[in-house]
Amino acid sequence: MPYREQIPIEKGLDNTAKLMLEGYNYITNRRKKFGRDLFETRILGGQKAICIAGEEAVKVFYDEDKIQRKGAAPKRIRQTLFGEHAIQTLDDQAHRHRKELFMSFMTKEKLDEVSVILERQLDVALDKWVVQERIVFYREIVQLLTKVAFEWTGVPIRQDEIKKRANQLEALFDSAGAVGVRHWKGRTSRNILENWLKQIITQVRNGDLTVSQDTILYQMAWYQDKNGELLNEQIVAVEVLNILRPIVAISIYLTFEALAIYEHPSEREKLKKGGEKYQELFVQEVRRYYPFFPMLIARVREDFLWNGHDFRKGNFVILDIYGTNHHPDIWEMPNVFNPERFRNRKENFYEFIPQGGGDYYRGHRCPGEWLTIEFMKILANFIVNKVEYSIPRQEHRYSMIRIPSLPKSGLIMTHVKRV
Ligand code: HEM
Repeated sequence: MPYREQIPIEKGLDNTAKLMLEGYNYITNRRKKFGRDLFETRILGGQKAICIAGEEAVKVFYDEDKIQRKGAAPKRIRQTLFGEHAIQTLDDQAHRHRKELFMSFMTKEKLDEVSVILERQLDVALDKWVVQERIVFYREIVQLLTKVAFEWTGVPIRQDEIKKRANQLEALFDSAGAVGVRHWKGRTSRNILENWLKQIITQVRNGDLTVSQDTILYQMAWYQDKNGELLNEQIVAVEVLNILRPIVAISIYLTFEALAIYEHPSEREKLKKGGEKYQELFVQEVRRYYPFFPMLIARVREDFLWNGHDFRKGNFVILDIYGTNHHPDIWEMPNVFNPERFRNRKENFYEFIPQGGGDYYRGHRCPGEWLTIEFMKILANFIVNKVEYSIPRQEHRYSMIRIPSLPKSGLIMTHVKRV
């Protein structure tokens, strides 16, 4: 007889409200209470969900014979963060085929191209910042990354539209963990952006808008699915947003990077002296230490037994991303900020999962991870070598409940100077 045991069960008919109230710590709090990396809860109208964390859990979560994405993403996430019929909701061949498209934008050449755009935009922005009394760093970076995202993808945008589109793109990721007004702002923004992009895609297809063939917009507009058919304009719009939105979302990590240098002043000197190698260690630790993407949700594809528990077809499985990145079995002193922990660390796709785990091409791991790391390295270099600024007194702490989290002040900087 295979080994079976009763796993801990979180009491309550529906614990969605508790999850929203405890945010990044919901799973960790219960893992501590139960002394297990595996427990059962009920969410989204009382449906059974098994919460898991740790390296072995990540392996199971990314085993596509056991786990699927179809029918997993809650409606409120599809209406804001993902969009309907997005790559995040696909499995098997259909998923792999579409993933190839995303990965085709992540070549060295394309990444160099977008890095050059970012460096130029930072330089242009600096001219503006030096004459301002103060800047809210996060707000500036949201607009800056919007410009970068549009230029790189080739989606045309007028100068006077940038602020509006930046706010709309920000609303898509800012609303994901929200209820009420913030949620509705995300939904409305998604509708507006999808309709606008749909028109652009139609114009590309019927020749009313000429865009270079090597742009991401062109490639997406003419992408054929595994049956050799064009996607409908709505889905193309969703997938173009799957590039624009997360590029703007990197503003959260860039703000946490600036915060890390403020909270740990010795990092500035180490970054100056350590060159690109130390930048890499620093960037990885920022992505591990600070809260961003809290957890992932999927469904059991076929019944299976793991760790003494019967996973039943159709049940939700929730992987604790934040908790795995702070798991004491994986990380020594996980709540200490220490870039050095990455110096001799072997790459392991199941332990360090700020942007998902497993394989990029076969699974759902974030295709934008290399781009994100590049952007963060560019910012680290910019902060320590190209600019000086002061951080006045402000509320720079960040919430562990609000998703996504961010330093409350958005990080105010004064006396910005070019070095
Ligand atoms: C801001 C930093 C980012 C974070 C924290 C982040 C995080 C994530 C996470 C956690 C996933 C889910 C992995 C899974 O479902 O197993 C994901 C998927 C995805 N990300 Fe990112 N991401 C970031 C940046 C980017 C960028 C820059 C792009 C594109 C340029 C991007 C495009 C995507 C896409 C298309 C998916 C779906 C992949 C799939 O389902 O196969 N992300 N990301």
